[in-house]
Amino acid sequence: MIPNREECLKLIQERGMLDHIVNHSLKVAEVALFISKELNRRGHSIDLRLVEAAALLHDFTKTECLRTREDHALTGSKALAGMGFERVGAVVREHIRLSKKRSPFRVSEEEIVNYADKRVKHDQVVTLEERFEDLRERYGKNPKAIELLENLKESTLEIEKKIFSILEIDPNDLLSNFK
Ligand SMILES: [Fe+2]
Repeated sequence: MIPNREECLKLIQERGMLDHIVNHSLKVAEVALFISKELNRRGHSIDLRLVEAAALLHDFTKTECLRTREDHALTGSKALAGMGFERVGAVVREHIRLSKKRSPFRVSEEEIVNYADKRVKHDQVVTLEERFEDLRERYGKNPKAIELLENLKESTLEIEKKIFSILEIDPNDLLSNFK
């Protein structure tokens, strides 16, 4: 079961998500859908409904997690699964960090939402470099955290390479597609 866009927006509203997190989520969904449609035009079979729902809901529980300090990828995933949206929850669970080695050829919905989230700083599309700079400023509080962010950046660059070698466009071209 996958909620459609209208249902997602209703869930977001009912949850009382902070405005800036909602705006971020809307932009992540735009980027994720753009990438997915381009992949499908090249013969891939990305589930667009799944990508849109998971991108819109990827920070579903982040607002309350700012207070509780829980892992919002995990609590978001559980909350959505509890509503019967298991598949959406599974994608949300991986939006910060992907759990396993990925296929070198196939792109998964998990990778698309994860990557799109890392191309959107607040509600602006930026380069990975700029987004990771932002993450370093916000979360790089000690050497361990900085090292984890560096690893995350490396694995995100791998996904970027895979996606954009299939699309045969430059990752920076995304910038001109979104204002
Ligand atoms: Fe998030």
